[in-house]
Amino acid sequence: MIRQELASVAKSLVAPGKGILAADESLPTIEKRFVKINLASTEENRRAYREVLITIEGMEDYISGVILFDETIRQKTKDGIPFPDVLSAKSVIPGIKVDQGTEELLEFPGEKITKGLATLAERLKEYKDLGVLFTKWRAVYTIGPKIPSGGIIERNAEALAQYALISQQAGLVPIVEPEVLMDGAHSIQKCEEVTTKVLTAVFKKLQEKGVDLSGMLLKPNMVLPGKDSGQKATPLEVAEATIRTLRNTVPTAVPGIVFLSGGQTPEQATGYLNEMNRVGGLPWQLSFSFGRALQDPVLKTWNGRPGNVVDAQKAFLKRARLNSFARFGEYNLEMENG
Ligand code: 13P
Repeated sequence: MIRQELASVAKSLVAPGKGILAADESLPTIEKRFVKINLASTEENRRAYREVLITIEGMEDYISGVILFDETIRQKTKDGIPFPDVLSAKSVIPGIKVDQGTEELLEFPGEKITKGLATLAERLKEYKDLGVLFTKWRAVYTIGPKIPSGGIIERNAEALAQYALISQQAGLVPIVEPEVLMDGAHSIQKCEEVTTKVLTAVFKKLQEKGVDLSGMLLKPNMVLPGKDSGQKATPLEVAEATIRTLRNTVPTAVPGIVFLSGGQTPEQATGYLNEMNRVGGLPWQLSFSFGRALQDPVLKTWNGRPGNVVDAQKAFLKRARLNSFARFGEYNLEMENG
């Protein structure tokens, strides 16, 4: 029964034309986003901003689920409705980030391991009572001279698989997020090589631990040249490299792949997703679970002012709709001006 429920939630999250909004920024991350609009990261400002996102009317046409953060899941609208209930009422599935950030280990200088396993099972019980149906755990890998090391790839794969198993045991669909960062001067070929190694290790561990692949989603990076490489890749090159990497590593039992945006512009993220979906004939749904690529225009338009809420919500709907077109390979650049 649990298996069927997990598979059904995973499938709903990647329903055709829909994707996920990642609104699960941790306290340090949301502070970085607010600095750009000169807004203090107070609890009330964070609540007000998340209310702008969560109360967007019509988001359910393009958005299947929203990933929240521990603080956000306990917050309410100014009318007193808990955020997860606002989402559930319009059939948008609430989810939650459950990792507790990263730390550096002495034996792996310059690399990071994700924390949070020790208290995970206990926290999931509470989240379930608050109405969530899925969870997310992120591991990060930096490309540099001699990194990522085999050791960190192994350790993060182990933690991701352990997390996925605990989440499924709690009846919650895990979104397994291994992110190879865009930072650095590496080539697209190097990104493909590292992403292939990382995903191979992750699926080996997931299978060893008996994680049910039909009841989970993968949230990877797209395969891109490093931000400081000076290398330009066309959408077709990005799509081909990304699809080749996924075909080489992701079992067909996984129902969907929901990309992170990782610092790409909203237009790039939509354009690359579109190009991948134009290929067609893939064994998984290819969708989005964007944070910045959905939220950047909202934050800029909102700018911390109540008077801008309506326009900020319109900016969101435009991006969400364009990403919905990209799910079918039907987006084009002219739509940006429409
Ligand atoms: P970005 O799309 O901004 O990379 O955020 C997605 C996410 O959830 C990172 O953990």
